[in-house]
Amino acid sequence: MEKILVETSPPLKGKVRISGAKNSALPILAASLLGTEDIILEDVPNLKDIEVMCEVLTSLGAKVEILDKGIIKINSSNINNYVTRYELMSKMRASFLVMGPLLTRIGKTQTSLPGGCAIGTRPIDLHLKGFKALGATINVDHGNISAYADKLVGNKIYLDFPSVGATENIMMAAVLAEGETIIDNAAMEPEIVDLASFLNKLGADIKGAGTSTIKIKGVKELGGGVHSIIPDRIEAGTFMVASAITGGDVVVENVITSHIKPIIAKLKETGCEVIENGDSVRVIGTKDLRATDIKTLPYPGFPTDMQAQFMTLMSLCKGTSVVIETVFENRFMHVDELKRMGADIKIDGRSAIINGVDKLTSAPVKATDLRAGAALVLAGLVAEGVTEIDNIYHIDRGYDGIEEKLSKLGARIYRK
Ligand code: UD1
Repeated sequence: MEKILVETSPPLKGKVRISGAKNSALPILAASLLGTEDIILEDVPNLKDIEVMCEVLTSLGAKVEILDKGIIKINSSNINNYVTRYELMSKMRASFLVMGPLLTRIGKTQTSLPGGCAIGTRPIDLHLKGFKALGATINVDHGNISAYADKLVGNKIYLDFPSVGATENIMMAAVLAEGETIIDNAAMEPEIVDLASFLNKLGADIKGAGTSTIKIKGVKELGGGVHSIIPDRIEAGTFMVASAITGGDVVVENVITSHIKPIIAKLKETGCEVIENGDSVRVIGTKDLRATDIKTLPYPGFPTDMQAQFMTLMSLCKGTSVVIETVFENRFMHVDELKRMGADIKIDGRSAIINGVDKLTSAPVKATDLRAGAALVLAGLVAEGVTEIDNIYHIDRGYDGIEEKLSKLGARIYRK
């Protein structure tokens, strides 16, 4: 199995361009099942998860062509299958996002219970509650879920938690339903806004995406269109922390700064200089990193997908930092790995208490999930010795060319 090796690196310097957002590209690819004409997506990141989603679309009868780097053409005029195979679902939880589109486009969908990162039990009750409210019948047996409906009819749906995936799945199901659907306590993430603007380009009628109430007026049919995926705010945040932790000076390009406000604020609290300039942000690190606290929350709060990377940074901040994880119930698996590298972290339920140490030291470690993997790469950049990271398929699921991009900034990182 391939590994990533990271040697102690000099302060990172230079410019890095951020790729399109994984978490935007995945639902938008799923939503491409709704269009009856050609769809062209630009700035699609080159990732394992995207490959899996393209395989899912192909298995359902869509034609998927890679036209150029980051440009994918999809034609879903001949969808001829409604079953997502276990093998594809178990590779990636986001495969579940094809359920809403299939249900509304062809009236039925079947899949196994989703897999993906092991960061909690991650139920799908809210997705199913939404489908039911629109008139679908749901059956769960032998690890399979099927949903069918002769027709979907708009309804008022309140989400008990602003789940990103449930908001997306219900929004996609509602675009072809009869009448109006209102989703209350909807997720407000930028990726929801990107999905809505893509669907509206295809002919949907969605208002309010980005607020907690989304109104969707059903239309008869969606066509085609061209859409560019928004930049990945989590990849941007990861490179910002890379600059901060190495005491570097990096300009992170292709960012929407309003999407990364909590990351900017927290880096400033650690003593780093952060300079916003149009669609780029420059992060200048400091030798005197100061402790800070974070509490993960749905957008616009601090993103849970940046929690692990910040914990690596906090391990080297002077003083005691506290992290409270409110979004997922089991998202501290990176802690044991960071402790093997010398970090001083204690967990108490959903809180982690991090006492800053003077240095980290290399050790053989395992990426336990995608962002945990990124946290270990960051630790490797500053740890004494050579850090060997195993299970790197998690990192490849979500980071487009992480070694190339870091190497260009001066990092000593290799794959073997
Ligand atoms: C998406 C992101 C993921 C990010 C997460 C939270 C994608 C492909 N993935 O995941 O990177 O970490 O948002 O920002 O976009 N929940 C329920 N019932 C449900 C659905 C969710 O209880 O039906 C709970 C989950 O267990 C979790 C919380 O809601 O505790 C948040 O999950 P959700 O927002 O749905 O995350 P995902 O869409 O899976």
